[in-house]
Amino acid sequence: MNCRLKPLQTVVFGKDLQQMFDRLKKISETVETGHFKKLLDLFWDDAGLVEKFIKAPAAKKMHHAYLGGLLEHTLSLALLAEKVVEHYGGIDKDLLLTGAMLHDIGKISEFEFERSIDYSDEGRLISHIVIGLDLIEKKMNQIENFPEKTKMLLKHLIVSHHGSRELGSPQLPMTLEAVMLHYLDEIDSKINGIREFMESNDVDGEWTPYHKLLERYFYKGK
Ligand SMILES: [Fe+2]
Ligand SMILES: [Fe+2]
Repeated sequence: MNCRLKPLQTVVFGKDLQQMFDRLKKISETVETGHFKKLLDLFWDDAGLVEKFIKAPAAKKMHHAYLGGLLEHTLSLALLAEKVVEHYGGIDKDLLLTGAMLHDIGKISEFEFERSIDYSDEGRLISHIVIGLDLIEKKMNQIENFPEKTKMLLKHLIVSHHGSRELGSPQLPMTLEAVMLHYLDEIDSKINGIREFMESNDVDGEWTPYHKLLERYFYKGK
């Protein structure tokens, strides 16, 4: 199914969303395990879902808090996952890649982003982890003979990706793939968030203002 956006909506802040989505789909095509491949196809062939996925922000404030942010963050994580898997070996690449591409899929409904970015009622009341889990579960159930244990391992990646209970994960990462996904998610969100913070404040100064949440100033240099 063709999920191209109308031309006017494809470029946000100079980033070509359709190009990023096409790149993500290319990575999906490298997934060899049949049930993961079918699952990703069910997502990327769902035109209504893809339209929201391409436009959604990844956050209201902290990182990728702009239209297309969710797609940019998801693609970045998939690219990182490809690299890290090669470095360590012995990791279930298809599980990690599928988890990376779907870990924040619930954000398509966690935010409202028609006029400005804010949490939706569903996002506030249920959270993207639970929304995403539900979406993934429904699609996995449409696939014949999806191994039950594999369903559990993928769901574990989704529920544990925030890494701690205080940060919204009901369970800690307990597989190598889940630990990796959590740290990659952390790296990508932090680097993007700090960059955005550096660029949004007094571009000529060497230091940023105090970052309350991260409890430090950041040094930009000259
Ligand atoms: Fe998340
Ligand atoms: Fe994330």
